[in-house]
Amino acid sequence: MASQRKAYRATIVHCVADPKDVGLDNCYQFFEDGLLVIENGYVIDIGDAQALLKKQPKNVKITEYNNKIITSGFIDTHIHYPQTRIIASYGDQLLDWLENYTFPEEMRFSDPSYARHTAELFFDQLMRNGTTTAMVFGTVHKQSVDIFFELAQKRHLRMIAGKVLMDRNAPTELTDTAESGYQDSKALIEKWHNKDRLLYAITPRFAPTSSPQQLEMAGKLLAKYPDVYMQTHISENPKEIEWVQALFPDRSGYLDVYDHYGLLHNRSILAHGVHLSDKECQRLAETDSAIAFCPTSNLFLGSGLFKLSKLENYHVKVGMGTDVGAGTSFSLLQTMNEAYKVMQLQHEKLHPLKSLYLATLGGARALQLDDKIGNLAVGKEADFVVLDLHATPLLKVRTEQANTLEEILFVLMTLGDDRTVYQTYILGEKAFDSSL
Ligand code: GUN
Ligand code: ZN
Repeated sequence: MASQRKAYRATIVHCVADPKDVGLDNCYQFFEDGLLVIENGYVIDIGDAQALLKKQPKNVKITEYNNKIITSGFIDTHIHYPQTRIIASYGDQLLDWLENYTFPEEMRFSDPSYARHTAELFFDQLMRNGTTTAMVFGTVHKQSVDIFFELAQKRHLRMIAGKVLMDRNAPTELTDTAESGYQDSKALIEKWHNKDRLLYAITPRFAPTSSPQQLEMAGKLLAKYPDVYMQTHISENPKEIEWVQALFPDRSGYLDVYDHYGLLHNRSILAHGVHLSDKECQRLAETDSAIAFCPTSNLFLGSGLFKLSKLENYHVKVGMGTDVGAGTSFSLLQTMNEAYKVMQLQHEKLHPLKSLYLATLGGARALQLDDKIGNLAVGKEADFVVLDLHATPLLKVRTEQANTLEEILFVLMTLGDDRTVYQTYILGEKAFDSSL
């Protein structure tokens, strides 16, 4: 029905392939005066406005933008909603940060109203930052994830989330058991997995906080529901890695702990992976597992420099993660900014088109969702952002003197943040409007 059709006219850019596979020139589509046509929440056409406007029925509503760029919604492959309120906590590296800030905050999620308010705050932050899909940790409390899904469903969001499994080396208020963790996760899978746009991830926090029995149960659950996701952390910090070796002396390394319990498959997303060995990279590729590159977090907690080229040489899938609250921004633009600097410190260049790929289609591929999201190809779910080149006085002058698309993108991802997101659309409906 033409009345359900809507079109958006602006400069449009989106990624269609990984630059490492097809080269920089062929990895994107760009329409300086473009038109994005949406019907019933899906992209039905994209291209040059002059050509496409002629094909539209008379009554189609057309929204026109000046000094704006439309691109696909950002994808955050690793974030913790319960850590929203402890972002920017001073002074510690991973293990002390968990003990001093994270665990005390996560205890507050035994209160459902606290969980509800924080989840709303979290979704508002995602929308104002143009993040349309995220892979999200809850807390150990089953309710924290139940509430999260309930609110995500109301907003029609495509979200992946899971209840944290944690049965040792944490405060007793934050521990489950191998059996209760299994049962709670199973109930959440049956209630929420594949409901509307929602997907479940079995979520052992990291090897140190799960007993071998719990990891075994997690593996059994994944075998029972093979299209469910698995999310965890790996090789973030040297002290953490030593601890894992002491706790699991029979395993050949950190990744082997997860591998041994059957937790690696094509829907496994492991955050950080800053200190992986060659053998571990190889094994990640063999199991088709993905790594979430979390530059703001890796810098903030002093964890180390992520070796993107090494992972890519082994053909490991990589997406971008903010890792809030260890990460310092909800903005994937700011995450790309820090990713660039992480690569500079290793004498490598991160091209802006590669960054855009990682924050959109690369993330979708890491999450096995590239048939549904990740770009604005015909048939995809219409989750997109409208970025404002004049969002701040500095952005205005800097983008006005930029000569190429690459330069504009680089400026946006270096200077941009939530102020740069003019509007965010979910399934073709406006979910955030900075002008209101
Ligand atoms: N490792 C285990 N838990 C966490 C967490 O909450 N954040 C980060 N960054 N690393 C972790
Ligand atoms: Zn994390």
